Amino acid sequence: LATADLGNERTLAIVKPDGVSGMYTSSVKKIILESGFAIQRELTVHLDEDSVRRFYAEHSTKSFFPSLVKYMTSGPVLIMVLEKTNAIADWRALIGPTDASKAKVTHPDSIRAMCGQDLERNCVHGSDSLDSAAREISFFFY
Ligand code: PPS
Repeated sequence: LATADLGNERTLAIVKPDGVSGMYTSSVKKIILESGFAIQRELTVHLDEDSVRRFYAEHSTKSFFPSLVKYMTSGPVLIMVLEKTNAIADWRALIGPTDASKAKVTHPDSIRAMCGQDLERNCVHGSDSLDSAAREISFFFY
């Protein structure tokens, strides 16, 4: 009987350059582990422009794309594969809304409220669907 192991959903998390330079990686990891995720893989890397353009390809026509590429190449990032039941939705809930300045008001306990600044410098990334999680994990890990 072939069944998916629903108890082991995986998602891709990134601590972005402002999070790493602001020394937030250990507090983010502490929250991850205390929330019941396993950190299955991790990688600290300074992404080049080509990698960021390919990773965010679906946003390539958006007005903010050049600024996003500049930001995501501005320093090292910490990339992690997180695993637990319902990992994708639960990680998105933990990080809070995209705009960190709004998160500070509406979701003060979220990770973006803790270490993000605004819509661009929002400290962390999380895959938004099963398809994007699979694509994003295979983008960085084999
Ligand atoms: S959209 O248009 O709804 O698909 O965009 P959204 O999901 O909100 O955001 C997609 C990623 O782009 C980043 N973003 C921005 N960066 C810089 N400037 C602006 N204005 C901006 N708006 C959105 C946002 O942080 C998302 O990055 P990830 O890494 O996926 O969280």
